[in-house]
Amino acid sequence: MGKILAVHSYKGGTGKTSLSANLAATYAKRGKKVCLMDLDFRAPSLHAIFAAHKAEYWLNDYLNGVCEIDKVLIDASRDYGNGGKLFVALANPSTEAIRDMSAKDRKWEMKALGRLLSLRQSLLNDAGLDYIIFDTSPGLQYSSINAIVAADVALVVTSLDASDIKGSQRMTSELYDLFEKKTGILMNKVIAEYLSSEKEREKFNQHFNSVHKLPILAAIPCFCDVLRAAGDYVFSEENPEHPFTETLDKLATKVEKF
Ligand SMILES: Nc1ncnc2c1ncn2[C@@H]1O[C@H](COP(=O)(O)OP(=O)(O)O)[C@@H](O)[C@H]1O
Ligand SMILES: [Mg+2]
Repeated sequence: MGKILAVHSYKGGTGKTSLSANLAATYAKRGKKVCLMDLDFRAPSLHAIFAAHKAEYWLNDYLNGVCEIDKVLIDASRDYGNGGKLFVALANPSTEAIRDMSAKDRKWEMKALGRLLSLRQSLLNDAGLDYIIFDTSPGLQYSSINAIVAADVALVVTSLDASDIKGSQRMTSELYDLFEKKTGILMNKVIAEYLSSEKEREKFNQHFNSVHKLPILAAIPCFCDVLRAAGDYVFSEENPEHPFTETLDKLATKVEKF
């Protein structure tokens, strides 16, 4: 039985898109069938990474009831082997679509939640996918809350900024607890020195375990190499030996067992 993961954060720019895309590629490399979905309708991003693949229909269309999900899915699989597949569902990046999605009312959002919930049947049960990964908008937007409600596991990405840590603490304790979602924290862009040795790593984990009640599933260093990818390609696919890729690989295993 497949799983739905929602990657969320309190603040923007924490690394949701990077981590979602790399996690999706990691599972595909393991022979899993994965669908990565851009639910950040305010700042669509995945179309830039998967630019070579043209979308005829967008996730917006699916949520608007214009088409079924199979029309939206783009097969972005490389030669992963072991039957691994990576499908993407893109958000429409046009200004008009962004405006349109920002103006949706609660009634529309309720309907959209129904469409999201039915992905479990159509993609996990019927099409036999192993993972759906939602890349969401930061903060407490309706669309992100819907994504969390529809998911099995929520992964909250946070930087080490005090405002981000406080915000994500508040967000998880006030909101996530309400839904009783399995939630893990991904600390991203961690200063490499904090993780330079086993001892330092232990200190880091101890400190943040006392700050966050939730389990920290990964502490991912800040790599200029990742920044250089500039949201243009899937870093782990191009750099299989890089420590970032290794960290993501470990994270993928943890999430699998979570
Ligand atoms: N571990 C990391 N090390 C260095 N840069 C990172 C790391 N993770 C993400 N980034 C960079 O941070 C920026 C924002 O990441 P992005 O994934 O777009 O965040 P979000 O989707 O949360 O807005 C991008 O330029 C990305 O390359
Ligand atoms: Mg993003």
